[in-house]
Amino acid sequence: MKAAVYDQNGGPEVLRYAEVPDPVCHPSGVLIRVEAISIEGGDTLNRARGALIEHPHIVGYQAAGEIIAVGEKVTHLRVGQKVATTNAYGSHAELRAVPARNAWPIPDGYDPRFASVIPVTFGTAHECLFDAGRLKAGETVLVQAGASGVGVAAIQLAKKAGARVIATASSDERLERLRPLGLDHGINYRLEDPIQSVMRLTDNKGVDLVVDSVGGPTLQASILSLGYRGRISMVGAAGREPMVVDVGSMMGGNRSLTGVFLGAEITTDRVHNMIQTLIDEAARGDWTVVIDREFPLREAAAAHAYIESRQAVGRVLLIP
Ligand SMILES: NC(=O)c1ccc[n+]([C@@H]2O[C@H](COP(=O)([O-])OP(=O)(O)OC[C@H]3O[C@@H](n4cnc5c(N)ncnc54)[C@H](OP(=O)(O)O)[C@@H]3O)[C@@H](O)[C@H]2O)c1
Repeated sequence: MKAAVYDQNGGPEVLRYAEVPDPVCHPSGVLIRVEAISIEGGDTLNRARGALIEHPHIVGYQAAGEIIAVGEKVTHLRVGQKVATTNAYGSHAELRAVPARNAWPIPDGYDPRFASVIPVTFGTAHECLFDAGRLKAGETVLVQAGASGVGVAAIQLAKKAGARVIATASSDERLERLRPLGLDHGINYRLEDPIQSVMRLTDNKGVDLVVDSVGGPTLQASILSLGYRGRISMVGAAGREPMVVDVGSMMGGNRSLTGVFLGAEITTDRVHNMIQTLIDEAARGDWTVVIDREFPLREAAAAHAYIESRQAVGRVLLIP
């Protein structure tokens, strides 16, 4: 098969389009012919500094496509079925083998391009808001990097849960694109101080919950944006800077900070079923999957470079 591979960590230019051996279907797994690859923020971080499991390494968490082989121990999936899949690596390829537990059937008629985005992107946002974040109707949530993949999902899920939604982004144009998804107030952090803006928007009370996928200095700003008993779901490092925070600033307001790692619980019944529900709801039209741009798989390097230029709102796909 063809895949986008690399031999060492680095910038997008390390990705090369190459012929590699086909993956083998495990007795407890499925093999899919990939139709769409959703490039995750974690994929770009892994390319830059993650471990190379294989040589050459194929990066990537999410891909959707059609099952072409089913392991002998798998009884609930069948050849010909369309599924969305996740795994620790291996999405940037024409074929993909995953444990059957990491495959979610796509309802008939729902475009696999959209389904490819849901498990990690919407699943993570759901964990941040409702499991770690304990969000309730009427609360105010701040979504850092609202135009990111996780951000676009978090805005929609929070709005539908009855929250007031504030989000940050690096331009007014990016914030404008979030309004139809449920954004109530946008903060362009290049033009205004996000903490002051949050306090102005909340009558100096601060927000109830922050979803922070940026980290670095942004995490300290998240802490200082919290109201009394405010919570932070800390879920990423898109800013790629060290996480240095003043932990003492948590105490006075009885604030809390919870780390979220979807991968640790994705095979539990709770999270597996939550993701299937999100896919089914998206297929019914409850969620908007924002696809900013598509690239052919052979142009994976250009796709990663485009993401890192921070022009994309929502997801960028690769199509084999
Ligand atoms: N723990 C988990 O289970 C889990 C699951 C999913 C994702 N994540 C993590 O969450 C983070 C976001 O993922 P994603 O898929 O939503 O990312 P994404 O779609 O690639 O978006 C990242 C956004 O972060 C903002 N950003 C701020 N500083 C940046 C910088 N220095 N370089 C690049 N972008 C920067 C950019 O928006 P602006 O320009 O508007 O600021 C950018 O659009 C990643 O670190 C990812 O690994 C973790």
